[in-house]
Amino acid sequence: MTKRVRTAVFPVAGLGTRFLPATKALPKEMLTVVDRPLIQYAVDEAREAGIEHFVFVTGRSKGVIEDHFDRQFELETTLELRGKTRALEELRKDLPSAGRTSFTRQQEPLGLGHAVWCARDIVGDNPFALLLPDMLFKGKPGVLKQMMDAYEESAGNVIAIEEVPHAEVSSYGVVGRGAGADNGFRVTQMVEKPRPEEAPSNLIISGRYILQPEIFALLADQPRGAGGEIQLTDAMQTLMNTQPFTGVKYVGQSFDCGSKIGFLTANVAYALDRPDIRDGFLAALERLSLDEVMAEPTKAAAE
Ligand code: G1P
Repeated sequence: MTKRVRTAVFPVAGLGTRFLPATKALPKEMLTVVDRPLIQYAVDEAREAGIEHFVFVTGRSKGVIEDHFDRQFELETTLELRGKTRALEELRKDLPSAGRTSFTRQQEPLGLGHAVWCARDIVGDNPFALLLPDMLFKGKPGVLKQMMDAYEESAGNVIAIEEVPHAEVSSYGVVGRGAGADNGFRVTQMVEKPRPEEAPSNLIISGRYILQPEIFALLADQPRGAGGEIQLTDAMQTLMNTQPFTGVKYVGQSFDCGSKIGFLTANVAYALDRPDIRDGFLAALERLSLDEVMAEPTKAAAE
C-alpha cells in the first residue's frame, strides 16, 4: 500500500534577483498575483491535494512569510468591528491551523537540492510533496491533486511535466519519456539545464514533485552540478536507479512567475478570471488602447 503524503515542502529562500528592486526587502514569494501572494497559491494547491503539514525552507529577510501564515489579531478585530465578515472569512480560510506549519532556514544559497535537504529532519522517513512557488498553475483540480492520483496508482516518485519550445529547455530540468499516458508515464532520464542539442526532449520538470525520503541521503552527498549548485535533479537521476519516477503531463495552464513575462501574464489571466474584477479590468485595458501601445513603444522602452 502507498504511504499517504501528508507533508509539503516549499523552498522560499531564493534571492529573487530577477525582480530587483521589488525584492530587495520583500521576498519574491510575497509578490502578488492580483491580491494573493504567490506562496498562498502554492499552499492552497497543496491543501486541495490533502496536505496537512506545510514546511517552509526560508532564508534571511523572509520573516514576513512566517507572519503571513500567522493570525493577525489587530487586523481581525478591526475587520470584525467594521462588519467586514467576508474579508475576515477569507483571511481565516487561507491559514493553516496551529501547529501545521514549520519553518527552517537554508543558511547558504547552495541550490534547490540543498534547500530540500534542509527539510530532512522535519519531513522524517515519509514521502513528501515539494512545490516551487515560482510556478503557478491555474486549473481544477490543481496539479498536485492530479499528481496524487498518479501516486495512488504507481507509488514511488512523481513529477509534474510540461512541454516548452525546444529553445527554452536550458532554463529547466528536462526528462526523457518512456511508456504510459499523459496522466502517468515512466520517466527514463533527467538532466538539469541541458544545452538544447543535448536535451532528451522538450518536456520539463515543472516545479511540483512527490518524493520518497530516500532522496535526502543522496542529497547529503550530492556534488555541485549545473550553475555550481547542488541540484535536486541530479539526486533524482541517481534515485531513479532504485525507484520508479512517474511523469504527469498535467491538465491546466501554467505561469513561470520567476520571469517577468510569466508573472505579468499570470496577473492578467487571474484578473480576467475574477468576476469582481473582470469587467472593470477589460474596460481599463481598452482605455489603454492596446493597439496604440503595441504599435508604438514608448521612448523609454525603445532606448
Ligand atoms: C528548478 C529546477 C528545475 C525545474 C525548475 C522549474 O530550477 O532545478 O529542474 O525545471 O525549477 O521551475 P530553477 O528555476 O530553480 O533554476
